[in-house]
Amino acid sequence: MIDRETVERIKEAANIVDVVSEFVTLRKSGANYKGLCPFHNEKTPSFIVSPARGTCHCFGCGKGGNPVSFIMEHEQMTYPEALRWLANKYHIEIREREQTDEERQAQSERESMFIVNEWAAKYFQDTLHNNVDGLAVGMQYFRQRGFRDDIINKFQLGFSLTDRLAFARMALSKGYKEEFILKAGICYKNDRGELIDRYAGRVIFPWIGVSGKVVGFGGRLLDARTKGVQQKYVNSPESDIYHKDHELYGIYQAKRAIAKEDKVYMVEGYTDVISMHQCGIENVVANSGTALSVHQIHMLHRFTSNIVLLYDGDAAGIHAAMRGTDMLLSEGMNLKVLLFPDGDDPDSFARKHTASDFRKFIEENQTDFIQFKINLLLRGVTDPTKRAEAISSIVQSISMVENQILRDTYLHQSSQQIGVSEATLINEMNKIIRNRKQQNTSGATANGVQQTETTVSSNVMPTQQIANQNVQSSLTGVEKMLVQLILRQGDDVVVENVKDDEGNMHDLTLTQYVYYNLQADGLSLQNPVAERILQEAFDHSAEPNFSTVQYFSHHQDIEMSRLATSLIADKYEISLSDKTEVKLSEAEEKQMKQNARENLLRKVQHVLLDLRMAFVMKRYKEVKTQLMQTDDKSPQYVELVQEYMKMQTLRNELARLLGKEIIVGA
Ligand code: CTP
Ligand code: MN
Repeated sequence: MIDRETVERIKEAANIVDVVSEFVTLRKSGANYKGLCPFHNEKTPSFIVSPARGTCHCFGCGKGGNPVSFIMEHEQMTYPEALRWLANKYHIEIREREQTDEERQAQSERESMFIVNEWAAKYFQDTLHNNVDGLAVGMQYFRQRGFRDDIINKFQLGFSLTDRLAFARMALSKGYKEEFILKAGICYKNDRGELIDRYAGRVIFPWIGVSGKVVGFGGRLLDARTKGVQQKYVNSPESDIYHKDHELYGIYQAKRAIAKEDKVYMVEGYTDVISMHQCGIENVVANSGTALSVHQIHMLHRFTSNIVLLYDGDAAGIHAAMRGTDMLLSEGMNLKVLLFPDGDDPDSFARKHTASDFRKFIEENQTDFIQFKINLLLRGVTDPTKRAEAISSIVQSISMVENQILRDTYLHQSSQQIGVSEATLINEMNKIIRNRKQQNTSGATANGVQQTETTVSSNVMPTQQIANQNVQSSLTGVEKMLVQLILRQGDDVVVENVKDDEGNMHDLTLTQYVYYNLQADGLSLQNPVAERILQEAFDHSAEPNFSTVQYFSHHQDIEMSRLATSLIADKYEISLSDKTEVKLSEAEEKQMKQNARENLLRKVQHVLLDLRMAFVMKRYKEVKTQLMQTDDKSPQYVELVQEYMKMQTLRNELARLLGKEIIVGA
């Protein structure tokens, strides 16, 4: 835990132009800087950095933020990781929150293991590049596999000498402790008490964790010796810093590309990952021949929801493709599968093709997972019992899909392909869901997803609606316009010389104007983030040097600062930043200010009317529905009719006002 004061110091020190410049070439443009967006591919710059606000924003893809959120997005780091990154850049010493003795002990043990691993990775690399045997044996092996130098370095590949005692001798002489060498699993102890190098005589593939630390190693026997040998690869044993089912090989080198492409390719092995990078495809990780775990899926889900499994077309590959897939579906991942034909695997395919050919091949040959499963299990199967089993397994997979609309779409499509009525499939699926609920007395599935049964009459909705489901929680419509006004121009005075209850004169800022207006009507904003922004903006609005833009762009709640930066950013910044200054006379300037104020007031009044209209319409519809369900002899009925008529009048009045009103400059 980084203490609060340190966090503040880091945020104060971080300069947005500085930070972004580490990754993007920026050109001065008026008061701002611009460059090519690092988050999507573009040819003309739409990424604007504002030193005055300390924020950046892309007008193409909408990404950006303050220095911390920029680093989080760009380096795919968590909040604390981004803070550490910035602290390191600005040479700020991190002060940690007080820890308990146990915490400190565990922490320092893990750190000692990381330190040993870090050194070991360097040592194996050094051996590969500089030792006579390393060059003759290890390097020779990589060369013969066609690995380029840049790739060998990118993956920090190494070699461990055949002398099984060499590693420990060197490590101990450098002061690394036996305890941590053993805990990290680089060596094990034999009967004679010697520290034996687990990877002796093997080429080394370090496992780099998502934040860049060496968590473990894989060692591969050299070709000549693999025939008939079981242990082609030896991997680090489980330890406090290496849990095989938490890690994905290549994640550190791939995470940025995964986020940028919004897609991850999953392959089986080390060499598949490496060859694909060498061919130019970087959004790829390997799960190393095990079934995918929920931890691995969560890690990937930080970067994307789209996953394509790329496996050999042989029986083992098919088997691998089927494992862990129900979990992927239940975690809300969009899953596609591609099996390579003719004895190819991603490694061999990458060596024969360019990146664009490879991508094209994937696009053309990947199949949706459910489709894949239908083809695999049912093609050519006529035996009724076998068919029933297969159909049950397919329905089982469909039942794992979290999104109900998507699930219904799958059922609909499968029913047509399998030739079984949709009602039968729905029945089967509801049985599966019911069984699962009984097993989990809480009524939730293993992953916590609450599932509802499907009814026979459910309609299949178009996929567009499926996509829209995910954005429901974001801010839209009139509330978004209002929040945008508050964020951009909340500090501007819209009404001068208003008398308060005690007879004092005040100028009202836009924020205050909005707040008092809503309060007078007893209205609040529906979106909780919007409501919080309004409340906090108002709470600070009387402070003399308060700047709404600064306050929200650098809000400690990262979600809020993200939303704020994207709403504050102004399209005109791109074109206007280059404009030439026109000198105005004092009178002209005064007139312009006056006009601007009046325009702003009209704009905010209009948005407030829209907001009232939205409330009235919502209530109007509610009352109407209630009316239809209420007995017309009940006492409630009269009340409802009265409210209904009131809403109707309000609606008409508002419509009249809104119709008359002309929005200026909106
Ligand atoms: N694997 C392992 N232990 C083994 C065999 C395999 O950990 N004894 C893991 C490795 O991560 C390996 C992956 O499973 O990369 C896939 O195995 P395989 O296809 O046999 O290896 P390749 O990566 O293809 O290696 P190579 O091309 O060097 O044979
Ligand atoms: Mn291989």
